[in-house]
Amino acid sequence: MALERTLSIIKPDAVAKNVIGEIYTRFEKAGLRIIAAKMKHLSRKEAEGFYAVHRERPFFNALVEFMVSGPVMIQVLEGEGAVLKNRELMGATNPKDAAPGTIRADFAASIDANAVHGSDALETAKVEIAYFFADTEISPR
Ligand code: PPS
Repeated sequence: MALERTLSIIKPDAVAKNVIGEIYTRFEKAGLRIIAAKMKHLSRKEAEGFYAVHRERPFFNALVEFMVSGPVMIQVLEGEGAVLKNRELMGATNPKDAAPGTIRADFAASIDANAVHGSDALETAKVEIAYFFADTEISPR
């Protein structure tokens, strides 16, 4: 498997629940290394830009509203097959469908407040990482 990087966001609900550390431990135990991180309270413009691909979807405004409701923790994860590994750790988008032991099953309340974001593919990861981090802010092993 190839060494990959993926973008992860711990969303406002999970930051408010004070589980950043617990989620980081899951990344580390799965062999993912946190090679960049920043806490940020997103502006509406930043959230709309990040989710621009979903602009036409019915939940777009609710998603943006939620993402600006409090600080988020944004990180770049690096590891073998990092994109898929992170998606597996996260669990299904709707926590009702998320497998037991996944981040969303354990920490998310609903599909509107589902604890974490993770890039869905390698190409998306590159774009999403560049959206939040300059090359100089990333510290590879
Ligand atoms: S995914 O995870 O991208 O494959 O899922 P998708 O269904 O394409 O959803 C895209 C993002 O929109 C969020 N989402 C919602 N937010 C609010 N309300 C509803 N009903 C809803 N449905 C989906 C979903 O969590 C995805 O956001 P991220 O941040 O990528 O997880």
